Amino acid sequence: MRTLSTLSETCPEDPAVRRIGPHLALVDAAVPEPGPGQVLIRVVAAGVNRADVAQSRGRYVPPAGSPLTLGLACAGMIASVGPGVSRWHEGDAVCALVAGGACADLCLADDGEVMPLPLTDLDPAQDPRYHPGFSAASDEDALQTRLTRGTAAFAAAAILVEASATTWLNLVRIGGLSPAPADNEGRVVLVHGGTGNVGSTAIQIARALGCRVLATAGSPERALVCVKLGAEAALDRADDLPAFVRAQTGRHGADIILSVSGAGSFADDVKSLANHGTLAVIGLLGGTRSEIDLERMLSRNLSVHAETLRSQPEQVKAAVCDALETHVWPLVRRGLVRPVLAGVWPLEEAARAHEAVLHGEHVGAHALLP
Ligand SMILES: NC(=O)c1ccc[n+]([C@@H]2O[C@H](COP(=O)([O-])OP(=O)(O)OC[C@H]3O[C@@H](n4cnc5c(N)ncnc54)[C@H](OP(=O)(O)O)[C@@H]3O)[C@@H](O)[C@H]2O)c1
Repeated sequence: MRTLSTLSETCPEDPAVRRIGPHLALVDAAVPEPGPGQVLIRVVAAGVNRADVAQSRGRYVPPAGSPLTLGLACAGMIASVGPGVSRWHEGDAVCALVAGGACADLCLADDGEVMPLPLTDLDPAQDPRYHPGFSAASDEDALQTRLTRGTAAFAAAAILVEASATTWLNLVRIGGLSPAPADNEGRVVLVHGGTGNVGSTAIQIARALGCRVLATAGSPERALVCVKLGAEAALDRADDLPAFVRAQTGRHGADIILSVSGAGSFADDVKSLANHGTLAVIGLLGGTRSEIDLERMLSRNLSVHAETLRSQPEQVKAAVCDALETHVWPLVRRGLVRPVLAGVWPLEEAARAHEAVLHGEHVGAHALLP
């Protein structure tokens, strides 16, 4: 079977290794056997994520023990199940969160992180839950030629899994939102990078959970996309964040800020939090080092979290997947949360997909089809 790896982690002389770009290789590997509590998925679509792109360029080291094969989420059909797995059977259509290995013909996943597809039938041309074309950078040809009614639901699931799990971990488990929208009335969530994979998903989930949602993006045009996705108001991140949050919420501020920016907005984020607010840092796109105004944090009872989904204990990831299936998949089926597909690429063109992510004009996420 073919697996996608970082070129620097392969031996280029090995005949099983085929270079497919400056940083990536397809490697022929033996088909793995699912162990106890595992399933083997025949991958129809895998999500493209920033960590893979950074890893392939030597700018991100995955947690120890992660599979060498890239890819943190996939959707496909169960090929076989290991001992002790009773829920899944050969041929079931599923999606899964994995710690690596999704960008391949076949992928091992832990039973607890396997979910049914949120949508089982999705017509890419007709279905309003499918959103190509928010971005001029979308590869419309790739979308049209590769996505059929049969594969669209898998591609949508593949990009949704990691983004929605990250959103749930940070907004609900860490940020304290309730799965019941009535409990969240009046709570304000600010999403940085609202056009990205996590951001576009977080805006929609927070809105569907009954919150007031604000967002930031890299230009006025992209801020408008955040509003189309469901944000009440959105800011070009070059503008004054605390003033924007004050204007939108009065003296309240944001109860939760989901930040892909890290140090880039840290000081302004702390200024923009409501009393007892939580800053959940998930990315460092704007830098890694900043000063902390501890007086403000102490006087307003603020918390800062910086956690990665990938390195959470298995039971936490399984609980998040369980919550997605219970609380988020129904929102997807109702059209309240819509996966935003920026582009769909054959596995052989993974290098182009990675370039498209780095180019940064996409909205939503790219998927690879093995
Ligand atoms: N901690 C975790 O568990 C976890 C999980 C998933 C992802 N992540 C991380 O979260 C980040 C976003 O992931 P993603 O999948 O959403 O990536 P993505 O689809 O590439 O989106 C990134 C978004 O960030 C915005 N952005 C770019 N540079 C920025 C900056 N300097 N400051 C603020 N925003 C900036 C971009 O918006 P504009 O183009 O509009 O500027 C873009 O829409 C990545 O760093 C990723 O590694 C972390």
